[in-house]
Amino acid sequence: MRKPVIAGNWKMYKTLAEAKEFALQLKEQQVDGTKVDAVICAPPLFLDQLVEATKGSFVSIGAQTMHEEKEGAYTGEVSGHQLQDLGVEYVVLGHSERRQYFNETDESVNKKAKAAFENNLTPIICVGETLEQREQNETETIVSNQVMAAIEGLTEEQLIQSIIAYEPIWAIGTGKTATADDANDVCQAIRETILDGYGEEVANSVRIQYGGSVKPENIVELLSKEHIDGALVGGASLQVDSFVKLLEAGA
Ligand code: G3P
Repeated sequence: MRKPVIAGNWKMYKTLAEAKEFALQLKEQQVDGTKVDAVICAPPLFLDQLVEATKGSFVSIGAQTMHEEKEGAYTGEVSGHQLQDLGVEYVVLGHSERRQYFNETDESVNKKAKAAFENNLTPIICVGETLEQREQNETETIVSNQVMAAIEGLTEEQLIQSIIAYEPIWAIGTGKTATADDANDVCQAIRETILDGYGEEVANSVRIQYGGSVKPENIVELLSKEHIDGALVGGASLQVDSFVKLLEAGA
């Protein structure tokens, strides 16, 4: 049994005061942390305060990207070493917005995944196809290639701990969700790719999230599918009440 992991990706939303208020309200909620992993992936400027505010609760804190080097002259960047130092536990890598606007590539995602493990961070590795690629029936090939490139050279133990997020680009922030069956098919294809490369134990352990317009109205059906082990959620993670409904669906 894979434990569901529901991660909110706040993107570039919220002020410090709003983030702190969210954390205070969230940790008061009755969510069974033994049944679901709850993660908030926030902008870097208030990660430390969120870690502090959620300490000892069922909530873990994640970053939305990181640099693969420990330190250096990389203006504007944040390293895995610095994230670990703050008490951050997860990091989103290769989100399609990072790939589109900030040059994250399969190769850099792979370097960052390795650096994440060196710093005890759990990577949430994002993959997904464009609408055009879906219409040309290329989804499974594109997504499988992204996964294999991202995880190349990770140990079995690291792979078992990794999280893959399948986020079809056309479903992000558009209100268009993949049907639960379509999402499950792609998640299954990802698991089979991992099975071919790394065997049964790894394939059965790695958690695969779906992301793209997930909300309280569709999460139950998505999570009922065999190969969907959680969700990476943008818009619906910004309000405490809807985020809690997502967590309850996972628990
Ligand atoms: O990483 C989450 C994401 O890109 C999906 O966003 O707003 O469609 O849930 P949203």
